Amino acid sequence: MPPHADIVIVPIESLEQIDDVLAIEDASFINPWTRQMYESDLANRGVSHIVVARTPSGEALGFCSFWIVLDELHLNNLAVLPGHRRAGVGSRLVEHVLAAACRLGATKATLEVRRSNDAAIRLYTRWGFLVSAVRRQYYSQPVEDALILWRDGLPQISSTRA
Ligand SMILES: CC(C)(COP(=O)(O)OP(=O)(O)OC[C@H]1O[C@@H](n2cnc3c(N)ncnc32)[C@H](O)[C@@H]1OP(=O)(O)O)[C@@H](O)C(=O)NCCC(=O)NCCS
Repeated sequence: MPPHADIVIVPIESLEQIDDVLAIEDASFINPWTRQMYESDLANRGVSHIVVARTPSGEALGFCSFWIVLDELHLNNLAVLPGHRRAGVGSRLVEHVLAAACRLGATKATLEVRRSNDAAIRLYTRWGFLVSAVRRQYYSQPVEDALILWRDGLPQISSTRA
């Protein structure tokens, strides 16, 4: 898979665009979030954000959902369509979200990940996240520990746009 140098990372602009996120969720997770979950999440304006990685023709290849809570970035969901993985899309999304979080006032970032999710753990550690705690049997279907990762020291830049 060649690197997707030409993708753009853009925020969700309407509730209809949640369809793109749901398609990637369904292809990526055993227990995908539903439309209702995303709609109620996005209702939390100023906190909840979703960005999508799109090709120049508009095809959605990946997404990241996140919260900004005070000075913390909470990276909630990140996924790339199976046929487009290992081409840098996940990295582009993380890079974009870290920069957006800085502009929105975050100074540190956290996320939870299944202990067995080597691909995601490798990606996050490449972006400076460190394992700081374990939540035993946090996940169900299948039951599994969660690793809690943090990255401190996001540079501070002020802005109001995600
Ligand atoms: C995790 C995920 C988002 C990565 O997206 P991606 O676009 O494939 O990631 P990238 O191409 O930017 O990979 C960046 C680095 O992450 C690591 N990585 C990514 N996929 C990997 C894999 N399958 N095995 C090992 N390392 C992997 C590598 O270090 C990779 O760099 P490299 O390709 O130069 O070796 C993707 O695998 C995915 O959607 N998984 C299912 C959903 C999921 O588990 N999300 C995370 C929830 S916390």
